[in-house]
Amino acid sequence: MRGTQDLPPLVVTDGRITSLDWFPTIIQRLTNAALPVQIYSDIDPNPTNDHVATGVAAFREHNADGCILLGGGSAMDTGKCIALLVDNPGTVFDYEDRGDNWRRADAARIAPSIAIPTTAGTGSEVGRAAVILDPRDHAKKIIFHPELQPDLVLADPTLSVGLPPKLTAATGMDAFAHCFEAYCAPAYHPMADGIALEGMRLIADNLVAAYDDGTNLDARTHLLMAASMGATAFQKGLGLIHALSHPLGGITGCHHGTANAIFQPYVMIHNREVIEQRMPRLAQCLGLPGERFEDVLQWVLDLRERLKLPHTLAGILNASMIPRLVSMAALDPSLSTNPKPCSAEDLERVLTKALNGDLSA
Ligand SMILES: [Fe+2]
Repeated sequence: MRGTQDLPPLVVTDGRITSLDWFPTIIQRLTNAALPVQIYSDIDPNPTNDHVATGVAAFREHNADGCILLGGGSAMDTGKCIALLVDNPGTVFDYEDRGDNWRRADAARIAPSIAIPTTAGTGSEVGRAAVILDPRDHAKKIIFHPELQPDLVLADPTLSVGLPPKLTAATGMDAFAHCFEAYCAPAYHPMADGIALEGMRLIADNLVAAYDDGTNLDARTHLLMAASMGATAFQKGLGLIHALSHPLGGITGCHHGTANAIFQPYVMIHNREVIEQRMPRLAQCLGLPGERFEDVLQWVLDLRERLKLPHTLAGILNASMIPRLVSMAALDPSLSTNPKPCSAEDLERVLTKALNGDLSA
C-alpha cells in the first residue's frame, strides 16, 4: 500500500465475518488483484492488548504493509492499534488517551489502513481512537492518535445485511447514544450538533426497519451513514452513558451497544435539568408528536422495547459490583463531557436505578 512492491495487506477481522458467504469472494478478489492477503481473525468482542500484540506479530511475520479493517468495532479497533504498533515502540496502553501520550508515536510509522465496516454502530471507521480492554484492571481504555483514523473507508451496506437482529438493535443503539451524547455535550459545536441530530433522525427512521428485515438495503444504508455520523459528532464529547458502559463491558463482557441501550433512559433522567432545553429540537428531528423531555424519553423506552433490548441490568450485574463500577466510571474520560457533573453518589444512584429498573427522578 505504501511501498513500490506488492506487499500483502493484513486483513483484520473476526470469526463471525470469516464464516459469512461473501468473505471468500473478497479474499479472492484481493488475490486476483495480485495482493496475497493474510488474515488475522483471532479477536474477541472485547479485544485486549494481547489480541493487538498477536496481530502485530502476524503483520511482521507476513511482511505486510498495511491493514484492511473488516468488521465491527472490535476488528476495526484492534486493526487500528496493530497499525499503530507495527513500527512504534511500547505496548498499546502507552498510547492511552491521557495528556499527550499520543505524541509518543511517530505518525509516519503508523501503517496505512482501509476500513470496511460490517456493522452500523461504532463508527470507528471515521474515528481517531480505539477501545482496548486492559485485563489487569478490566478497564476499557481509549487509545488515541490523530493518525489512527483510517486512510480510506469503504461503506458498503450489503456487508451489513447478514447482521442478526439482536446485533442490529444493539449496534444501532450505540450509534444513537453517540449522537445523543454528542448533541448534549456542553461544548459549543453547532456542526457536531447538526450531524448528531441528522444521525438520530436516520436511526429513528430506519433502525426498526433493518431490525425487522435485515435485507432492507435502504435502511442498512442509512444506518451505516448514521453510525459514521455518530462517531464524527462525538469528537465534541460523549457522556455518562459511555462512562458507565465502558466499565460494565470490561467487567461483565456485556455488549457495548446493549449496555448503552440500558443506560440511556436512566442517564437522560439524571441529566434532565441541563438537557431539557435541547429536547424540542431533537423531538422535531425524531418526528414525535410532542416536544417535551418526557416525549423523547418515552420514545427511547418504546424503541428499546420494540427492539427487545433489556430495560435493566438484572442478570448482567450484581449489586455487590456497583462500588467497583463507580470507581471505574469516575475515571472514564467520557465522564468529563457529560453535561452535568457526576459525584460518586450520582454514579451509584444511576447504576442502582438501572439495576432495579427505577425511572424515578
Ligand atoms: Fe459507543
